[in-house]
Amino acid sequence: MSLNELFKKYKSDKYNHGYHLFYEPYLKNLKQKKLNILEIGVSDGASINAWSDYFKNSNIIGIDIKKIDLKKRKLNRKKISIYQGSQSDKKFIKFLINKYKKFDIIIDDGSHIPSDVIKSFNLLFDALSNKGIYFVEDTQTSYNHFFGGNPFDLKYANTQVNYFKKLSDSVNFQEIANPFYIKSKYDGLIRNISFFNNMIVIVKDKINFNSNLLINNSYENKRYLTKIKRNKKKKMQYFFKYMIIFKSYTLFLYIFNFIKKILLFRF
Ligand SMILES: C[S@@+](CC[C@H](N)C(=O)[O-])C[C@H]1O[C@@H](n2cnc3c(N)ncnc32)[C@H](O)[C@@H]1O
Repeated sequence: MSLNELFKKYKSDKYNHGYHLFYEPYLKNLKQKKLNILEIGVSDGASINAWSDYFKNSNIIGIDIKKIDLKKRKLNRKKISIYQGSQSDKKFIKFLINKYKKFDIIIDDGSHIPSDVIKSFNLLFDALSNKGIYFVEDTQTSYNHFFGGNPFDLKYANTQVNYFKKLSDSVNFQEIANPFYIKSKYDGLIRNISFFNNMIVIVKDKINFNSNLLINNSYENKRYLTKIKRNKKKKMQYFFKYMIIFKSYTLFLYIFNFIKKILLFRF
């Protein structure tokens, strides 16, 4: 059965949201694999049952802040494990990570409160397998102040949508022409972040792309080294141009932006 049919069969609201359209392209080739799949938010068990039918060889792990009646929800099935706890409880998440070590797919369909979504992602990212996929559902809460979002200051609001927009810089971290750039723990570990209607998908992957413009986040160093390789005789001239003039210009812009960020409280 397709995810579409399974969400419909179990009456999961994932069907009404049309999420199968976003899930299926990522998941269809993984159906037969033996994976650890974690879903935050069990509720009546509809999606847990759907995942269990779809991924016949995988362990399906569900967590929910509320106690779930496994018998009533028909969740007392082989390869399904349900735990009670909060997605933002560090101790509880550490317990899960200790137990399962790695998760290949993580679905956040829990509280949808921006701070919870961000905290869980930070707690769980290390335990996401290489090439693992992290799905964040119902990101519309980012745009709604009644759910912890902020519809009035879209660019700077402390929401999960902004968090993942900012994280998308990690996909291109080697292209940031700032010699003072400090690497984040996510740099070089994210292949792509995709934004869909009410859903964000993050694919983890150890990647090592080289920039064609920079060396260690420095355009000046790359230009200088490329130029002297071509013409050693002009070494002094290139040194003056790239290592003195260009670097001074970069330093000026760095200081200017640093002061601007302080004045605008942008940290
Ligand atoms: C939208 S429902 C989950 C629906 C289910 N995934 C499905 O598609 O059938 C959200 C669930 O998240 C749970 N929840 C809310 N806050 C939570 C938290 N902080 N940690 C874990 N679960 C939470 C709620 O109790 C609720 O059962």
